[in-house]
Amino acid sequence: MSGLRQQKAFEDIRRTGKKLVDKISAEVKQAKIDDDARFLKSWLDNPLKTGAVSPSSKALAKKMASYVDPSLAGPVIELGPGTGPVTDALIARGVTEDRLVLIEFNPEFCVLLKKRYPRATIIEGDAYALGRTLKDQLEAPAAALVSSLPLFTRPEKLRLALLREAFALMRPGAPFIQFTYAAVSPMPKKAGGFDSHVSPRVWLNLPPACVWVYRQNQS
Ligand SMILES: C[S@@+](CC[C@H](N)C(=O)[O-])C[C@H]1O[C@@H](n2cnc3c(N)ncnc32)[C@H](O)[C@@H]1O
Repeated sequence: MSGLRQQKAFEDIRRTGKKLVDKISAEVKQAKIDDDARFLKSWLDNPLKTGAVSPSSKALAKKMASYVDPSLAGPVIELGPGTGPVTDALIARGVTEDRLVLIEFNPEFCVLLKKRYPRATIIEGDAYALGRTLKDQLEAPAAALVSSLPLFTRPEKLRLALLREAFALMRPGAPFIQFTYAAVSPMPKKAGGFDSHVSPRVWLNLPPACVWVYRQNQS
């Protein structure tokens, strides 16, 4: 091939590649706008249950997923996946889709989640009734649980009941991971029976948030 033809072929490939990148970027941007709109609608319909006006940022989702060890066997439970930003981060972390068990209250989000994560188990139901909602869905103790539930809208007693129910479904020492915009622990530490760790505040999120990790005491 002559130098000129080679250069033209290279230019054609570059142009086609750029068109493809532009198309994908536009689709990604559109999907993000769609998710923001879906989320805002959900918040307008039910502010206390939705708990936020927009999906979590990539930075916050990545921070949550960083506390999951993908090499540990067992399902990974996600409570309140919404449009799936934390789900994406879990998959990027190395948790395969078929290990994910997602519990979401909002039926419209469930339709979306089923399309986005066809190999995951998606349960439309109440995460606070964890044992009942999961019924016989777990074939092994869970390796981790990641929650985006708006916990502060529920009384302390109910939050602690959720934590204890979760520990009973997980392998010993497995983390219960929860984000919050608040300055204090969503699980009252005075209740005892568990260790807690809090991340530095993730500023790249609106509003900025912290991630709490709870593990059952093993003694
Ligand atoms: C703050 S949003 C977080 C959504 C998503 N994980 C994110 O980070 O963008 C809380 C989500 O929990 C869901 N939710 C609230 N209460 C729930 C419940 N009792 N059971 C299951 N899902 C619930 C809401 O529908 C919403 O999708």
